[in-house]
Amino acid sequence: MSAETAATPSVSFAFTASAALSDSLQRVLVDLIALGVTTKQAHWNIVGENFRDLHLNFDEVVDIAREGSDEVAERMRAINAVPDGRPATVAAGATVPSLPKDEITVSEGVAYVVSAIEAVVSTLRGVHDAVDDEDPASAGILEDLTGKLEQQAWFISSEDRKPVR
Ligand SMILES: [Fe+2]
Repeated sequence: MSAETAATPSVSFAFTASAALSDSLQRVLVDLIALGVTTKQAHWNIVGENFRDLHLNFDEVVDIAREGSDEVAERMRAINAVPDGRPATVAAGATVPSLPKDEITVSEGVAYVVSAIEAVVSTLRGVHDAVDDEDPASAGILEDLTGKLEQQAWFISSEDRKPVR
């Protein structure tokens, strides 16, 4: 069999993402990767009162971000899109704010992780409707992540608040 006639296994997809859908999921992907990496940084480097509780709570956010990034990336593959999770791509594209390289106080850690979650939720909510119009199954993944991350923002922000009276 010549090289010309050797068949490349054909792959068929029931549904192929448009460039716009792929771009929306890619934006979510880089934000989730950045959230996982930078929340680990906060997990390691917070110091002060209530360290232990926040240290552990930040790892819940890391788990959501890591599992979510894998789910989004694998959804992209299932609809014939190619996720790009390389560090340089994440650094260039993520909207998650940066964190100091040094130790941070518990209050700084709370403010940082909540702002990081809010940045990701803003991306999730921003792309949701267009994703839902084209592919409700992908939108369902985004909805699940939005719910989990908004719950974490509530948990963590409550650590550094006084009651409203
Ligand atoms: Fe740890």
